[in-house]
Amino acid sequence: MNLLIISGSRNPEGQTARAANAIAEGASAGGWGTETVFLPASRIERCRQCDDDGWGLCREGVHCVIEDGFAALVDKVRQADVVVFANPVYFSDLSESLRAFLDRLRRICVHGARIDRIEGKPAVGVCVAGGGGGGAPKCAAHLEQILATCGFDVVDMVPVRRQNLEMKLDVLRAVGRWLASKPTSV
Ligand SMILES: Cc1cc2nc3c(=O)[nH]c(=O)nc-3n(C[C@H](O)[C@H](O)[C@H](O)COP(=O)(O)O)c2cc1C
Repeated sequence: MNLLIISGSRNPEGQTARAANAIAEGASAGGWGTETVFLPASRIERCRQCDDDGWGLCREGVHCVIEDGFAALVDKVRQADVVVFANPVYFSDLSESLRAFLDRLRRICVHGARIDRIEGKPAVGVCVAGGGGGGAPKCAAHLEQILATCGFDVVDMVPVRRQNLEMKLDVLRAVGRWLASKPTSV
């Protein structure tokens, strides 16, 4: 069983990474493999809204026309048993890199991939407000909404602020252990 972490942070040692690593630690303790993808270091463009009415060619069953790292990452999502979306809170909202990926994922899910191993897949979100500490719950609500539109089964959503990070690391390890203890369906 494997856990895929998709991170909107570029810092492998930052607060978002510490939060995501805590989930990975819990899952690893249960025997799961884990992999982390850092979106800012990946070549994933934003949606081009590639036809005149804005719906885009993916609506007609054509795959996304942009040739970049998107399709390979979607394949990883399909292969994963659970996907964790780890987001540094920017302006009480998603980071630009996670937003760009999810904007495109939402389109292909709504237009076709619902029948292709994303519908019903368990997902967890963690949103880390690492500055003043505000905005994590609002960001978490937005993340839950877009993941649900993609068709994920959002089984947990954990808002974190700089001031409670140490306490939340224990919670996130427990989330990882819990995920690994429910191999077929959480
Ligand atoms: C553009 C930008 C906007 C930010 N907005 C917020 C915010 O609304 N609330 C907050 O607590 N921190 C905010 N921060 C701080 C980030 O949440 C913090 O840098 C991040 O969680 C930690 O980054 P890392 O995990 O990549 O190390 C912001 C940071 C940036 C760069």
